[in-house]
Amino acid sequence: MSAIYRIRIDSRRCQGHARCLAFLPDTVDFDDEGYAYVPEEKSCRAEMTDALRQAAANCPERAFQVVAEE
Ligand code: F3S
Repeated sequence: MSAIYRIRIDSRRCQGHARCLAFLPDTVDFDDEGYAYVPEEKSCRAEMTDALRQAAANCPERAFQVVAEE
């Protein structure tokens, strides 16, 4: 069975730095207060990509996470 990679942005941690947007411009969106979120229909990927890794690694608040689900 292969994993699905689900993007999660922890709204309690996100401070709106927008570094995730630089790596995933077609995936990340922002609410009216400037905090990032990922629409449900864009939150799952079949594989872990460099862009996902970079977005997670470059979030200063560790709010951007990618979780492997079976
Ligand atoms: Fe928020 Fe981190 Fe992106 S603080 S806007 S999830 S880089």
